[in-house]
Amino acid sequence: MTTDIHPEILRERAVAALTTARARTAGLTETVSDRDLTAQHSPLMSPLVWDLAHIGNMEELWLLRNVAGRESMRPEIDPLYDAFEHPRSERPKLPLLGPEEARRYAAEVRGRVFDLLERTPLEGTDLLSGGYAFGMIAQHEQQHDETMLVTHQLRRGAAVLTAPDPDPPQGPPLSATEVRVPGGPFTMGTSAEPWSLDNERPAHTRDTAPYWIDTAPVTNADYQAFMADGGYRESRWWAAEGWEQIRAHGIEAPLFWHREGDAWSRRRFGVTEAVPGDEPVLHVSWYEADAYARWAGRRLPTETEWEKAARYDPGTGRSTRYPWGDADPTPAHANLGQRHLRPAPAGSYPAGASPLGVRQLIGDVWEWTASDFLPYPGFRAFPYREYSEVFFGPEHKVLRGGSFAVDQVACRGTFRNWDLPVRRQIFAGFRTARDDV
Ligand code: AVJ
Ligand code: FE
Repeated sequence: MTTDIHPEILRERAVAALTTARARTAGLTETVSDRDLTAQHSPLMSPLVWDLAHIGNMEELWLLRNVAGRESMRPEIDPLYDAFEHPRSERPKLPLLGPEEARRYAAEVRGRVFDLLERTPLEGTDLLSGGYAFGMIAQHEQQHDETMLVTHQLRRGAAVLTAPDPDPPQGPPLSATEVRVPGGPFTMGTSAEPWSLDNERPAHTRDTAPYWIDTAPVTNADYQAFMADGGYRESRWWAAEGWEQIRAHGIEAPLFWHREGDAWSRRRFGVTEAVPGDEPVLHVSWYEADAYARWAGRRLPTETEWEKAARYDPGTGRSTRYPWGDADPTPAHANLGQRHLRPAPAGSYPAGASPLGVRQLIGDVWEWTASDFLPYPGFRAFPYREYSEVFFGPEHKVLRGGSFAVDQVACRGTFRNWDLPVRRQIFAGFRTARDDV
């Protein structure tokens, strides 16, 4: 991908992104004991110490072996950290590097990577151009930092992470619960964003009918109305597999919620607290989101509708990088980067609104969409098929917009996430849409 950004600026950006990621990795792995680092907190997750060495191993693979052409530093450990060789549930039994060794290995890789970055011209190959491979590796580490935060949320025991709560919503309150998005073509995906990943490319035109979309994510109070109305007991709201899942597992509320008398409380990073009504609902599966939407007489937005709401500016006809325009996110725009360990109340971040007034598309909670994870027309797997291509198909649903747990380097209007529709441990919620009739 070509870019006209000055090489020194690209280099500084790469150093900053890698440094931010490593500070977060350290914060997530230095706050727990060695026992907690090597334990399996859930069969859905790797031990934290696996993520730690895997982060270093991917960095070594792409930057030192592929970009710089070096030999493997420790060939015997490479297969242990190949995500495709061992499913998460089996990783605790592998002869993994211990916490100290894993930290030392990742730090040694990083030292060599910084040397390389200083000396390598960021041009000539698709991996180097625009500093792509460095940006990709910073995003990879941040994605694992979000995964490690999910592991912290699943971990039992006393709280070890703290962060200030988001401020109460500032500025004008929402004036409407939904807005109408006009029909017609818009540009989806990107061919310009230098660090966009393969599945976000290329930019292409898509058409939509007019539709309505919520101006904020669905809140806990909204979701409790569905629960109180017997939503979990009526099969008519549920897709068949979703109904089977809630019956088989006795699910009657979002993950981490428990009933206390007449009220609901939740466990959040080791602390039990009342469920706050004004916060976007979190820890629901695609099936729960889909059932809620049907109960509400609505539906989930398609991925195309989500991106149009997030990027299309009806004033100019252009698609922007973010709902608020092309500027990088600041704390006034969105709740990103683990600054807070929870979503902000619905209606927060007026500065982050889209031109039509849709808020909190970026940050707070990943948003389930109606769509399967599929390639865009002209997709080319880059630099490896196992990032996106092997996951394309009807079994994965697309999530958009990022959560409070993801860093801005891995979050933009075009960024695509995906997961199985049964998953509930990820930091996912949703908003709803409807046809314009
Ligand atoms: C894009 C979040 C689905 O965690 O499985 C990390 C990101 N890919 N290492 C995942 C990823 C390789 C991926 N998701
Ligand atoms: Fe990975």
